[in-house]
Amino acid sequence: MSKAEIKKIGILTGGGDCPGLNAVIRAAVKTAVLQYGWKVTGIEDGFEGLLSDGKARPLLFDCVKGILGRGGTILGSSNRANPFEYKFKVHGKIVTEDRSPVLLERLKSLEIDALIVIGGDGTLSIADGLHKMGVPIVGVPKTIDNDLASTDITFGFDTAINTATEAIDKIRTTAESHHRVMVVEVMGRYAGWIALQAGIASGADIILIPEIPFKLNEIHEIIKERIKNGRHSSIIVVAEGAKPEGGDMHIKKIVEDSADTIRLGGIGEMLAQEISDEINVESRETVLGHIQRGGSPSAFDRILSTRLGVGAVNLLAEGGYGRMVCLKTPNIDSVTLEDAVKQLKQVSPNSEMVNAAKSIGVSFGE
Ligand code: F6P
Repeated sequence: MSKAEIKKIGILTGGGDCPGLNAVIRAAVKTAVLQYGWKVTGIEDGFEGLLSDGKARPLLFDCVKGILGRGGTILGSSNRANPFEYKFKVHGKIVTEDRSPVLLERLKSLEIDALIVIGGDGTLSIADGLHKMGVPIVGVPKTIDNDLASTDITFGFDTAINTATEAIDKIRTTAESHHRVMVVEVMGRYAGWIALQAGIASGADIILIPEIPFKLNEIHEIIKERIKNGRHSSIIVVAEGAKPEGGDMHIKKIVEDSADTIRLGGIGEMLAQEISDEINVESRETVLGHIQRGGSPSAFDRILSTRLGVGAVNLLAEGGYGRMVCLKTPNIDSVTLEDAVKQLKQVSPNSEMVNAAKSIGVSFGE
């Protein structure tokens, strides 16, 4: 399918939402209409919208008015609808089925010539699978976790660390008033980007990330030392995926019918309990949770999302199927979807940013 043959494109948002999704949709619709004269169909609730009836609607120029600064996604999202491994319950038991043929039929009946898929590693892997089945498709990377290796940064991350920083600033004042050790658990899955950067930005005393397993004893010693030096309050920022040396990540729940079965969480509570038990100090946890995924995107995320939305439509027009747009500073570039999902981007324990934090006295609990 070449530029001349495309008449209508589809666009969907998959996986967990994040600030900036609407800005991508807006930019893609505007570029498709203004630059190429294409029609756009919005698919609702991620791939679920291509597996069921009544979940597709025309996205006209007017539909994207006023959504640049709005959080979430006007199309809805889902992380439960992998067409290749569609999970559903029969008599209480989870059954898995390949529904990709249904999806191909649906694309045909909707007369969608090419697809833009906005998502994280799970959604982009599905997009790669569909590309290999012949669907003209391009991907746009999103996630607050910033854990995709093929792009300098994912949109949503900047807003998430600003939200977390603001929350930790507020937690600090109450920590100081009550002489408490406040443990703030942030998201990020298996990568410590949110904890590291929100931790530095909020002046945390201890930052715990999955890439640097911590020693509980070390944390106890640091807090005792701080108290000895008259510092009666401390802030610990812990990534949900952080783990003790020789131990495992805290799994809160296994969600069997989700594409992402492991739900992390609980490390903050465990740490606050351990600290209160070991040291004569009150320790409390705060789990920031989905607040990090919500709200209006930062100016940085609005700009990046806009550039990626424009880039995705241009990539389709060039016939760059099976690729994902990405930020290769200072340009918007592209990589194959296959390469894009090959590797997780994690914090390097010896990186300049980690070392800068250590230089100003931040401990990683090693
Ligand atoms: O990938 C984004 C993210 O917010 C992770 O940081 C977190 O572990 C996960 O999604 C939570 O997903 P859900 O909202 O499905 O529980």
